[in-house]
Amino acid sequence: MQTAAQLAQLRRDYSLRTFSIDDAAADPLQQFDLWMQEALQAEVPEPNAMTLSTVRPNGTPSARVVLLKGIEAHQFVFYTNTQSDKGVQLSHNPAVALTFLWLELERQVRIEGTATLLDEATATAYFQSRPRESQLGAWASPQSRHIPGRKFLEQNFAEMQAQFAAEDLIPKPDFWGGYQVKPTRIEFWQGRSSRLHDRVLYTIDAQGQWQKQLLAP
Ligand SMILES: Cc1cc2nc3c(=O)[nH]c(=O)nc-3n(C[C@H](O)[C@H](O)[C@H](O)COP(=O)(O)O)c2cc1C
Repeated sequence: MQTAAQLAQLRRDYSLRTFSIDDAAADPLQQFDLWMQEALQAEVPEPNAMTLSTVRPNGTPSARVVLLKGIEAHQFVFYTNTQSDKGVQLSHNPAVALTFLWLELERQVRIEGTATLLDEATATAYFQSRPRESQLGAWASPQSRHIPGRKFLEQNFAEMQAQFAAEDLIPKPDFWGGYQVKPTRIEFWQGRSSRLHDRVLYTIDAQGQWQKQLLAP
């Protein structure tokens, strides 16, 4: 069978759980914490993987997966190369969307908000907590730039290994850091049968309070 025909025939009815607006926490961050706990308990692979969508200066969208590394002061934190494509895009336009897919639980969470750079002290503390190999990898990779071949990366890595061989602590590169996303809109999606899924959307009102509403699937 051709792929297109196979794709058209793929069908799955979602029926594991329900999510009513009355059961949804008043604070979406509390609700997120609960769902993340359930994803961790269910051993969803890479439950902290999220699609980070950004906007290029010309207005076109750009998306890739990054890892959520914490929630600090009600903001979602991830780490990356600040000179990467995403870093350059964020310096022009801080508007982002974060999308989690926890298929094993038939759940999606969509977050929209604004990203700002984390302070250097927090980024440095996190960098220092990473395995040495990852730290060297960060130094060795000009993320998002064109490279002539794999050898280039391996040589860079070997050079960094040599450069820092005598150092216990590898310093955080200036071009590496964290971003925190302040959410303005968070939607929780629970798959239901007959495509009548549950969708609960939280938005911030003029008083800065979260309000929830139901959306049609
Ligand atoms: C599961 C998974 C987790 C990832 N986590 C990160 C991450 O935390 N930080 C990061 O910079 N890239 C991460 N990546 C790689 C990014 O998807 C992407 O390739 C890279 O950041 C370059 O994106 P850019 O060129 O749009 O800046 C991850 C990829 C996958 C598949």
